[in-house]
Amino acid sequence: MFNREKVSNIYSKFVQSFENALNTVVYGEKPSTLSKLSELSLKGVANYIKECKPKNVIVMTGAGTSTSAGIPDFRSSTGVYSCLQEYNLPHPQAIFDISYFESHPEPFFRFAKTLFPKNVKPTPAHYFVKLLEKKGILKRWYTQNIDALEFLAGMPEEKVVTAHGSHLTSTCRSCGKKYDRKWMTEKIFDPNTLVPHCDTESCRGVVKPDIIFFGEALPRRFMTCSFEDFPKCDLLIIMGTSLVVQPFAALVHEVADDVPRLLINLEDVGGDSPAGASSTGLCYARKDNMRDVFWKGTCDEGVKALAELLDWELELQEMIAEGEVKFTTAPPNV
Ligand code: OAD
Ligand code: ZN
Repeated sequence: MFNREKVSNIYSKFVQSFENALNTVVYGEKPSTLSKLSELSLKGVANYIKECKPKNVIVMTGAGTSTSAGIPDFRSSTGVYSCLQEYNLPHPQAIFDISYFESHPEPFFRFAKTLFPKNVKPTPAHYFVKLLEKKGILKRWYTQNIDALEFLAGMPEEKVVTAHGSHLTSTCRSCGKKYDRKWMTEKIFDPNTLVPHCDTESCRGVVKPDIIFFGEALPRRFMTCSFEDFPKCDLLIIMGTSLVVQPFAALVHEVADDVPRLLINLEDVGGDSPAGASSTGLCYARKDNMRDVFWKGTCDEGVKALAELLDWELELQEMIAEGEVKFTTAPPNV
């Protein structure tokens, strides 16, 4: 009997393989780089999650995931680097430069009140990543953020790589004594403390939050985990980052050539050179793109749209609501 649906399926498979074959000839793509997405859109990514069931999803995030929590990003027109005039810095990034900090620690600690606001809550974007973890498909969450909102959202420590450190702990630069977040927060918000000093009488060294400044090495865990994780990645989700700070930004190239990559951001970032040139970035604007999707908008709206397409909307809402109740007091270890 004539089955219209079956014929239509066979026909679309034929068209897909013909297009793939054509791309192989035109762009010299290897068979492994054929598209895994039914369409290059958020819906295509949702279908891929539903049908291909990726099990090693990696998420890479930046400051744009925390702006809706009230923490500024760095490079937007209202970001950190645009409002540092009063500090008389040689250049805006000096506030996070380790050699500048060694001779001038005051500007960083004055500014730290803005960077470490009290009573912040994770955003829907944070809870979406938590939902991926709950579904058992999150390989790892690589974050550049130092606000520790990943942990406040309930993410287990082993699932997170804080590439630029975090302010959960601080260290005395002279004797290495460790301090917790409570100690540092009190110092930062104490109007009589310009620079926090070590409690040990014989030391009195400067205590610095364990965030990675320019000129400092990234945590060892960043290297060990990324070597292990990225070759296994079967879906990369990038959110709220300008993708300009290395080596973090370069991680987007460490997944295999056929792995779909979704960027959710207010602006197009990390883009590649025009079609035909060798691949040096995300390919969503290239004519020969077969795997990258750029969803323009806020991280929160982007994850909500994706959750809706996945029928995970209710679960996400519940998680956000539970989180709001749970975090009226600080969770343990944070
Ligand atoms: P940036 O400020 O460089 O980039 C933030 C990106 O997020 C920009 O592209 C914004 O357009 C976008 N954005 C802002 N709000 C958003 C929202 N609600 N939804 C979606 N997108 C949004 O921040 P990072 O890329 O995180 O390093 O910066 C990387 C590193 O540079 C930081 O970790 C910090 C900084 O110097 C150190 O301190 C070592
Ligand atoms: Zn000390």
